[in-house]
Amino acid sequence: MSVEIVQADALAQLAAATSEAALRELEVALLGKKGAITELTKMIATAPPAERGPLGKAINGAKAAVTQALEARRSALVEGAIAAELADRRFDVTLPGRSPSTGSYHPVSLVQERLEDIFVAMGFRVLDFYEVEDDFHNFEALNIPKNHPARDMQDTFWTTDGLVMRTHTSPGQIRAMRSIAPPFRAVFPGKVFRNEAIDASHEHTFHQLEGLMVDREVSVANLISTLRIMLSQVMEREVTIRLRPGYFPFVEPGFECDMQCLICGGGGCRVCKHSGWVETLGCGLVHPNVLRHAGLNPEEWQAWAFGIGLSRLVMMRYGIDDIRHVMGGDLRFLQQFV
Ligand code: PHE
Repeated sequence: MSVEIVQADALAQLAAATSEAALRELEVALLGKKGAITELTKMIATAPPAERGPLGKAINGAKAAVTQALEARRSALVEGAIAAELADRRFDVTLPGRSPSTGSYHPVSLVQERLEDIFVAMGFRVLDFYEVEDDFHNFEALNIPKNHPARDMQDTFWTTDGLVMRTHTSPGQIRAMRSIAPPFRAVFPGKVFRNEAIDASHEHTFHQLEGLMVDREVSVANLISTLRIMLSQVMEREVTIRLRPGYFPFVEPGFECDMQCLICGGGGCRVCKHSGWVETLGCGLVHPNVLRHAGLNPEEWQAWAFGIGLSRLVMMRYGIDDIRHVMGGDLRFLQQFV
């Protein structure tokens, strides 16, 4: 078969190909190891010597022509496919983009961070202590000996090896006083755990922030003013507080501090149980026994301390009237805090 005929036939087949897959098959059939064009080269060996040169040239020319035609056809098909797709699927450049969804801070974290900032501005350091404590730090050193009725005030989770999930952040008082040379002021936020039945106003895991100030002389007046600054700044408005006597074995005198309900403005609602006041924190002057357990001489050093729960603060600050929203983990609720 002559080179011209094979070439003409190849070009006709390429022109007739309508898909890239068909082109790939043709490429093999024409230019592959046993392809029609490749086979032509076998003719060179049997041709008379004088014709070999021109024949080789003709075959190379055919190969080049077919290769070029193949590439041309291929790009034509690709362009055609793109054009067809564009004509078919219209692209609306005015559509708004899809923005990646971003996370948000939990309101408890927001309030905790705010409190930390407020105290850092007042010269306090922020400390972090253990969630699993020993009996000594959680009870004994806080003036709550074994069989003391105050142990029943907080139902406790014990680990199988006799340690306790801290029932409050107060064990940090002992750890702070034992590790930092007085005078100093510190706050220590964290999770605390109580073995309680869960209901509208009780969780088994919640957050507290403990405050401690140790100096040669501290006063209840200074404690009260610190509490008022803390609460007004975290709520971003003036809050009214009141102190009542309160019993905690590790302080003497001890107080319960209430804040006028910000949800109802003191008129009474379900958050303040219709009293107009919300129990906000426990506080007092650190008991001499506690100072002694922490290695400080009560004749030389004095301290005040408070412990505040964060869920109630979150509710007051954001006007939430059901504690179950706070730790419920519902994203529709949580995404409102950015
Ligand atoms: N630890 C107490 C509680 O969890 C709060 C408290 C802290 C009271 C410091 C007095 C002083 O209820």
